[in-house]
Amino acid sequence: MTTTVPGTPGAENTESPEALRTRVADLLAASRARSTALTEAVDEADLVAQHSPLMSPLVWDLAHIGSQEELWLVRDVGGREPLRPEIDGMYDAFQHSRSSRVALPLLSPAEARAYVAQVRDKALDALGRSSLRGRRLEEHGFAFGMIVQHEQQHDETMLATHQLRAGAPVLHAPAPPPGAPLPVAEVLVPGGPFEMGTSVEPWALDNERPSHTVDVPAFVIDTAPVTNAAYAAFVDAGGYDDPRWWTGAGWRHRVDAGLVAPQFWERDGSGTWYRRRFGVLAPLVDEEPVVHVCFHEAQAYAAWVGRRLPTEAEWEKAARFDPATGRSRRYPWGDDEPTPEHANLGQRHLQPAPVGAYPKGASPLGVHQLVGDVWEWLDSGFHPYPGYETFPYPEYSEVFFGGDYRMLRGGSFGTDPSALRATFRNWDHPVRRQIFSGFRCARDADARDADCRDTDSRDH
Ligand code: AVJ
Ligand code: FE
Repeated sequence: MTTTVPGTPGAENTESPEALRTRVADLLAASRARSTALTEAVDEADLVAQHSPLMSPLVWDLAHIGSQEELWLVRDVGGREPLRPEIDGMYDAFQHSRSSRVALPLLSPAEARAYVAQVRDKALDALGRSSLRGRRLEEHGFAFGMIVQHEQQHDETMLATHQLRAGAPVLHAPAPPPGAPLPVAEVLVPGGPFEMGTSVEPWALDNERPSHTVDVPAFVIDTAPVTNAAYAAFVDAGGYDDPRWWTGAGWRHRVDAGLVAPQFWERDGSGTWYRRRFGVLAPLVDEEPVVHVCFHEAQAYAAWVGRRLPTEAEWEKAARFDPATGRSRRYPWGDDEPTPEHANLGQRHLQPAPVGAYPKGASPLGVHQLVGDVWEWLDSGFHPYPGYETFPYPEYSEVFFGGDYRMLRGGSFGTDPSALRATFRNWDHPVRRQIFSGFRCARDADARDADCRDTDSRDH
């Protein structure tokens, strides 16, 4: 059986409008099931509480999900009158900072649930009426895909709020698959051009477009994300006390914020490290990717081991470039959609999986776990690709270009596959670490890395 992916390079889009409609309805239902689970797991007081100044009350995220869905699917695609125009401003992320939302006269949990259900009814009505083609907003169901991704993005944000919440555990999931040692710690990515971004993925967001050629000099990248054991060695060696490893801005932040270890790490009297995760305190597992570090911590670790963070173009080349064909894949493993064998995505597990847990997800060059587990910090700012066009609204990407942001790629255990492509671009302030962020290291290629297999000069 072959599965045809709409918009895949080289594949005909053979999905009928009926099949697309069903797929969209299923994805809308799945994102709502996740939002419902995340908001039903806690009581009313927890839903309206501010668990951290960095996060919105969960009940704000829920109604904001409905508000965006109403805006695009009910009012725009559906052509309907506003359901509750008086609440628009309250759920506009640009009008109220996260820390101030708790003070707004927000919809109560019961009102928010009724509102999102009412919006969903009308959105499904719009789905039934749209031809899903013609207008760019509706072509291939783009507006619906955008709203699915938006809800899943806020679900990951709500998951981060759960991580910050004090109290007994309320979320549960099975452990991820076991790890296995990788044959090599790093691989050479050959220099030369590759296709970055996409012009064909139907639900790619504006900042991932268009596809363009980028010439990336040869570099060497780790086959796995940096683990807890490796990062703990940096902490235990006094890495947080030595400004040599930190940039100027990084050291200032390290001092001002009093950073001593990744967020949620604790040490007992004997020096053993523990981590608190969704209300459970347990010993740190050596082979799991480190998570909840900020960009500055990632950069300092890389400097300590004599390496650096990859750039965004390097990361995407490692994730997509197929040296056999020279073409860019949709995912490291090929063009097929992620399955549970490929990557730790979709909140199936409440933690990153140990290194080596996803051999089927490796890239052709043997780089593992690029997708899933932890978002990977990169040493690049947020800038538009050549030929970028804002679509459909500037507040998704455009207003963030050129800020102090650093890029993150690959998604985490809390990212849904519907909201993640190998071209998907995420960004955050370099000091943020309540997100599910880790990293891997890279370095410039040098004479040691010359790939002798392809040269005949050795024998001369
Ligand atoms: C792309 C993940 C940075 O969550 O702030 C959600 C996505 N934009 N609502 C975010 C987003 C508007 C955004 N990130
Ligand atoms: Fe949003």
